[in-house]
Amino acid sequence: MTVADAFVDLRSDTVTRPTPGMREAMAGADVGDDVYGEDPTVNALEAEVAALFGHEAALFAPSGSMANQIALQLVVPPGNELLCDADAHVVTYEIGAAAAYGGISSRTWPAVGADVDPDAVAAMIRPDGYWAVPTRAIAVEQTHNRGGGGVIPLATLRELRRIADDAQVALHCDGARIWHAHVADGVPLADYGALFDTLSVCLSKGLGAPVGSLVVGSADKIERARFLRKRMGGGMRQAGILAAAGRYALAHHVERLADDHAKAARLAEAIAPFGVLATTVRTNLVPLDLTKAPMDAHALAAAARAEGVLVSVLGPRTARLVTHLGVDDAGIDRAVEVLTRVLRG
Ligand SMILES: Cc1ncc(COP(=O)(O)O)c(C=O)c1O
Repeated sequence: MTVADAFVDLRSDTVTRPTPGMREAMAGADVGDDVYGEDPTVNALEAEVAALFGHEAALFAPSGSMANQIALQLVVPPGNELLCDADAHVVTYEIGAAAAYGGISSRTWPAVGADVDPDAVAAMIRPDGYWAVPTRAIAVEQTHNRGGGGVIPLATLRELRRIADDAQVALHCDGARIWHAHVADGVPLADYGALFDTLSVCLSKGLGAPVGSLVVGSADKIERARFLRKRMGGGMRQAGILAAAGRYALAHHVERLADDHAKAARLAEAIAPFGVLATTVRTNLVPLDLTKAPMDAHALAAAARAEGVLVSVLGPRTARLVTHLGVDDAGIDRAVEVLTRVLRG
């Protein structure tokens, strides 16, 4: 029996398994050697995703981390600076890659999740010159993972674009869950795409593909990205089998994210009376702040696990629940029953 069969797994939306339809699409995929640019399914996926975001080109990469790091290397030369949130995935969970691979210096604004203050970001930008590290790019995360799945409003992003243009720096979007923002706020993906020089978007989180992210940008940038991907060991061969899963996910699993958001809202409503919700729930992430709870995050996770529900521990007193296509209504019922019992103490 697998973990998915034995538990209601709310740790992450990366735990999904391919659906039968997705497996069928993968099995039937037309493939070729993608390092030669000859995989028709990869080429089709790249063209599709570029068009969705209104950009010229896109590049399939094995992971969201690699897609982010390729994009950052495109817009920040070694020894230059990236600005981002202190809780951004690119500086929290990518194991120092920007510095290790790109020679990139990162400076962060205090963690604010999706509540980015464009004026505060503008005030951090350092101009070109020989006396200080020049800022070359600003990165934002849509939706914001450690920010509890918050959605940065379109107006804020437009203001950041204006600031980036004025300062002649690039704007990158870690859009691992940009699909969730699109569904939650009804903003067309092309409207998001128009605001960024580069985006990374992920097929293997909420969309349910087993593997894969894409870097999106201009034709020139993506040509360079292909070189950087190979250098980082991310050149794949008959990757069409994976790209087919991604194409299937884009066709079938975007609009259904509204279900995941509704399920997360149900979880949030059930546990709100315990005073442990860290923030308003907007998408599929339900962040818990257990500072005032009778138990810490490890105790909560252990007690829930003993009753068949898996919860993610993010810190001693912070935990997270995530809804995704592997959790149905019965699973949410079960999670509500178990978590409310455990939180009652
Ligand atoms: C916001 C965000 N960006 C990037 C990534 C990295 O994706 P991967 O695990 O495929 O490297 C994640 C993973 O959860 C994420 O949440």
